[in-house]
Amino acid sequence: MDPVRNPYAPGAGQRPPELAGRDHELRQFEVTLERVAAGRPERSMVLSGLRGVGKTVLLNALRSVAVKRAWGTGKIEARPEQSLRLPLAQALHTAVREVGHRHRDPERVDAVAGVLKSFALQTRVEDRRSSRWQPALSIGTDVAAIKGRADSGDLELDMIELFTDVADLAGDLGVGIALFIDEMQDVAVPELGALCGACHEISQQGAPLVVVGAGLPHLPVTLATSKSYAERLFRYVSVDRLPREMADRALLVPAGSENVDYERAALDELYRLTDGYPYFVQAYGKVTWDVALGTPIRLADVQEAAPEAEGELATGFFGARYDRATPAERDYMRAVAMLGANNEDGSVTTAQVGDSLGRRPQSLSPARDGLIKKGLIYSSERGTVAFTVPHFGQFLRQRN
Ligand SMILES: Nc1ncnc2c1ncn2[C@@H]1O[C@H](COP(=O)(O)OP(=O)(O)OP(=O)(O)O)[C@@H](O)[C@H]1O
Ligand SMILES: [Mg+2]
Repeated sequence: MDPVRNPYAPGAGQRPPELAGRDHELRQFEVTLERVAAGRPERSMVLSGLRGVGKTVLLNALRSVAVKRAWGTGKIEARPEQSLRLPLAQALHTAVREVGHRHRDPERVDAVAGVLKSFALQTRVEDRRSSRWQPALSIGTDVAAIKGRADSGDLELDMIELFTDVADLAGDLGVGIALFIDEMQDVAVPELGALCGACHEISQQGAPLVVVGAGLPHLPVTLATSKSYAERLFRYVSVDRLPREMADRALLVPAGSENVDYERAALDELYRLTDGYPYFVQAYGKVTWDVALGTPIRLADVQEAAPEAEGELATGFFGARYDRATPAERDYMRAVAMLGANNEDGSVTTAQVGDSLGRRPQSLSPARDGLIKKGLIYSSERGTVAFTVPHFGQFLRQRN
């Protein structure tokens, strides 16, 4: 069929033609925003799940919900080894601009921009070296910094003052500020603790500001180590693979708008191959469409497309990640893949990995830590590890 009309969208953060199975979260978020704007107690939110399940896409959809309600919004993609301070200032600057131009009192808006600037000016020297450091440009404000507000150098205290001021500004308009943080597991633990502290304070004040984070499955555990009360501070939402009905929807709705249908057996086979993982649904859907001669898409089309789709995943989704690992890390991953073959979630203990490689677990710590840093494995229970990428074990087992 015409590849130009192919509706499927495999890719990191690519908005799917049909966001299947997330209605509940979207509705729930509307309630959250209304409650926060009304000054009612409400928790911030954390999405967690494996690679490719649709966290970024959901985060963006939630942001759209906030934008529709005229909230000020900003987004950060956290990176290892980078402090939150500058990206936070940039994201909140975007949010302030969104509400600022509707505000009746330009002096008040400038005052908040001045606080943002003084917050940003505390950026550590290491982080300033990055090409993005240009105070005037990067936070886009020509107002003077306001000394003595959000500039103590203590991230938690500064965040509290900054959050309070931006939330108050939005509050003047009957709305709030929503801050979105993707790849949140990459925020250093002390900074996560500071963020929790600031969220805690802000929610006690009833100020209209919410944080929505997204990250890998161990994010809730990491948050809990950063502050003991993190467990109660956030509403944790696990973003998972789609149940059969929703995976079918993700394929059928976009096809339907091009007047294309699927045979039942084709959908059965697609679910067997994709397990309902959103990235795989898009990837297999795309190749199948290109292979199929017309409507309805048949089982034979799926069977013909499967090796090609698998090949694309092997080089892109899996291969690119495998290539980032060092030889020692690859040995470690192969051991995890072999040991995890027989259990549902593929998780294995570090002791088992040590045994199978004939090494003491401590001597394998550098490989394990390296893989965690690279976001290839995670550990949400002490002494166990699992792949962050669905079907990664299967990929490695087939490789040798
Ligand atoms: N609910 C959904 N319905 C259909 N397709 C979806 C859905 N959610 C995500 N997708 C598709 O899945 C793919 C992966 O989405 P996304 O990049 O948001 O995943 P992610 O969880 O952020 O992955 P990573 O951990 O690698 O950042 C995209 O191609 C997107 O279009
Ligand atoms: Mg993502």
